[in-house]
Amino acid sequence: MLGKLDETCDGGGEPAEPLAVIGGGYVGLVTAACLAEAGRRVTVVEVDPRRREAISRGEAPIYEPGLDEMLRGQVASGRLRVRAEIADALRDCRIAVVAVGTPSLPDGRADLSAVERVAATLAAEAQDGTVVVIKSTVPPGTGRRVQRLLQRSGRSIPVVSCPEFLREGCAIEDILHADRFVVGGSDPDALARVTAALNAFGTPVLRTSNTGAELIKYGSNAFLAMKISFINEMANLCDLVDADVAEVARGMGLDARIGQASLRPGLGFGGSCFPKDVAALEHSARREGFTFWMLRAATEVNEQQRIRFVQKIREAAGNPIEGRRVALLGLAFKPGTDDLRQAPSLAIATRLLELGAVVVAHDPVAMAAAAPLLPGVELAADAYAAMTGADAVAVVTEWPEYLSLDWGRAAELVRHREVVDGRNCLDPTAVSAHGFNYHAMGRPTVANHRDRRASDTPGTPQRDAA
Ligand SMILES: NC(=O)c1ccc[n+]([C@@H]2O[C@H](COP(=O)([O-])OP(=O)(O)OC[C@H]3O[C@@H](n4cnc5c(N)ncnc54)[C@H](O)[C@@H]3O)[C@@H](O)[C@H]2O)c1
Repeated sequence: MLGKLDETCDGGGEPAEPLAVIGGGYVGLVTAACLAEAGRRVTVVEVDPRRREAISRGEAPIYEPGLDEMLRGQVASGRLRVRAEIADALRDCRIAVVAVGTPSLPDGRADLSAVERVAATLAAEAQDGTVVVIKSTVPPGTGRRVQRLLQRSGRSIPVVSCPEFLREGCAIEDILHADRFVVGGSDPDALARVTAALNAFGTPVLRTSNTGAELIKYGSNAFLAMKISFINEMANLCDLVDADVAEVARGMGLDARIGQASLRPGLGFGGSCFPKDVAALEHSARREGFTFWMLRAATEVNEQQRIRFVQKIREAAGNPIEGRRVALLGLAFKPGTDDLRQAPSLAIATRLLELGAVVVAHDPVAMAAAAPLLPGVELAADAYAAMTGADAVAVVTEWPEYLSLDWGRAAELVRHREVVDGRNCLDPTAVSAHGFNYHAMGRPTVANHRDRRASDTPGTPQRDAA
């Protein structure tokens, strides 16, 4: 049966049921805060005591623009509260939204242990008529499996699959103005109750089966990941034929069938979702005896992209790179978040350290999270401190503050004027105007000065002629 798009989202006098949101991370907490902002009463259940304490003070335990203000208001209003136990939350909530993590296992499978633990608690604690909403990203068939587990309780506890599509860095905006919500399941009353809760946001709701909803989530992330890998391959070809991928991507994206979104070449996809969801979908396909070749290629291209970037840094900083100082600008997997899960910066910094480079990094918000993950990397107070004495400056995350750096000032601080723009986010003319050689991904190098590395030893003060 085809999914049904419910466009009548004005709430229609549906009762505003209180909700329990299990898992107070990027998805659970932002969802809970937005629901509370829309007037719903929400109880967040969080096992991590530090996260719980922060939430109860109205402070976001994660960096997400706008979340602190929203939480402060909603905790103060009493609409949002936090508890340690699912049973506590279920005293007055008959909708339980599961938003716990589903990270990758070493073989690519999604680790469903947190979802399974929550499902077992719900089977023991949830009252008859409680709707379990799976918001975590889970492999096809998981909703049906959880449904079978809950059925064994002898009570009616329907499962609705309602995947989340938000992007970190603009998560609030993405929930308040989503393109669509997807609710999958077979129990009409449960689907209606979840749709009524989501009507708080006035977004069209697509109704599907549980497995359909699960695959819509994986399919969407995998498709975007493939788009990113595709344009990165185009960039790699542009490097070889001396073309500018910026104009190629723009020209392709003007075709409405293609679109500009996710057509930005760079260091590939990272973060907590795309890499793990591509791997999990590929694993799900493999389990069915099916090889999903395009997913395999997307992942391979993604890994290669970081290696190519390190190679560009080596060529810019001086090969061998041992003893050379590389300034990494940006550590978070993308701007607007402190999330370092699968961030390209981790692989890049680790490889540079293995090659003997001295790596100095800066990030506007992710340095505290990065310190334990990158013990060999020096962390600098700001971008200029990171660039001081650098043999190459490598842009890894396109934070807005890096787009307006004073390259004249930077030129006085670096040892060699070499910029490698891993995100193609800088203005090549502005950077090269200050004597820098500008290298990017799939864009022609703007060279100001000739190679000087043959005669240069690391550690010797030297400045290129502009
Ligand atoms: N982060 C994103 O951008 C994003 C976007 C869409 C979908 N998703 C999916 O949403 C799910 C959650 O992702 P996230 O990034 O919010 O994860 P997260 O790790 O930030 O948050 C999960 C939270 O659940 C808590 N938790 C774990 N077990 C618990 C339990 N038994 N009871 C109560 N709390 C428990 C953890 O302590 C943690 O705070 C994942 O499946 C992910 O793939 C994430």
